[in-house]
Amino acid sequence: MIASLGPVCGVIGAQWGDEGKGKIIDILAEHFDVVARACGGANAGHTIVVGGKKHVFHLLPAGSLHAGKPVVLGAGMVIHLPTLLEEIATLKDSGIDIVSRLHLSPAAHIVFEYHKDIDAVMEERRTKQKGQGIGTTKRGIGPAYMDKAARSGMRLESLRSSEKDLKKELTERATMAEEMFGVKADVTKELSELLRAKKLLESRVSENTVALMGDLLQKKKTILIEGAQATLLDLDHGTYPYVTSSYTTAAGALQGLGLAPKVLSSCIGVAKAYCTRVGSGRFPTEVTGTTGDRLRERGGEYGATTGRPRRCGWLSIPDIQFAAALNGFDHWNITKLDVLDEEEVVPVGIAMKNGKMIYKEFPGWKESTAGVTSFADLPKNAQAFIRFVEKETGIPASFIGTGQAREAMIVRS
Ligand code: IMP
Repeated sequence: MIASLGPVCGVIGAQWGDEGKGKIIDILAEHFDVVARACGGANAGHTIVVGGKKHVFHLLPAGSLHAGKPVVLGAGMVIHLPTLLEEIATLKDSGIDIVSRLHLSPAAHIVFEYHKDIDAVMEERRTKQKGQGIGTTKRGIGPAYMDKAARSGMRLESLRSSEKDLKKELTERATMAEEMFGVKADVTKELSELLRAKKLLESRVSENTVALMGDLLQKKKTILIEGAQATLLDLDHGTYPYVTSSYTTAAGALQGLGLAPKVLSSCIGVAKAYCTRVGSGRFPTEVTGTTGDRLRERGGEYGATTGRPRRCGWLSIPDIQFAAALNGFDHWNITKLDVLDEEEVVPVGIAMKNGKMIYKEFPGWKESTAGVTSFADLPKNAQAFIRFVEKETGIPASFIGTGQAREAMIVRS
């Protein structure tokens, strides 16, 4: 089955992020030559175990752990360099070299500390004016993309500039940040971080992203594209304004990497067997009270980046149908099925009527699916739940996650 995914495969979240994309990436990365991340920044977070220790990574793709594989950070990304340096150092401490196989797009934008400060100021303003903010991760993502769209951002290509020029560029931006947002940037500190990054990473900045990807394709390298955030957080198609500031779809990932759309050979949609969201915005299948708390505890639903408790609820068929249509999914990876093991009933949102979700209730299976690796071994009620998702979306659930361990995955042919 994995062989049928072809040379360029995308893995894209179908809900509001945190679907657990890391595990399928980990499984698939072994079968691909290159791992690539296209968009977003250190708002993403995935927990990985290196040398027996758990770490949360925000910028390097989950597939980076596969020794020797080239890792691409694409043009659509916004990169906080101290975070990247820290992740590189963490891997180095565990004996994993990433620098020599890292390919950075010169067009990726740089996130500075003052972007984080602006993020906080904007959230405060929204809360004052509208009663609530977006609930951003405060990692400076929106403000960095604002600078990008305003054509005043600094890109990784700047790592080729001299210290004098970098200082001048930073000083100009610091003035702007203060004039527009009342934020005081520490130019000396920003500059010293930039120089630290320049020393280690300048040689890893590619001449041009398209040439880099073109060269890999020409050499018949297979590419696994690791989506960040998820479809319903997409700046164009998500639940605006409660979205992130990048393009989180398959199309956005291709754009962010400088790959022609027609090279995508397959796309896997990742959806939890239930649903979660962090931050504000619509969530029609949300459940609060003891049921919501139970899902949160069983699923360990706390943000990897911010530690915030995630809002929890049931699977919404209209939302994943929307994501499937937008991304052209070929397969589902339904994750965390085992989290539902103890539920008496498993409601699934099937349609919106007068602004309210209509549910179909599936009888719970009330037995452990943890670690099950074959569809036939799933309880009949769990099979019926999965079959319903497949029928309603017309997409096979080729991968079904049944626990945290790498092995806890049903892979159907
Ligand atoms: P920002 O991307 O930090 O600007 O946050 C905008 C919205 O996207 C907020 O609701 C965040 O909680 C959400 N968000 C951003 N990145 C992620 C992610 O990786 N997982 C889940 N939610 C995210």
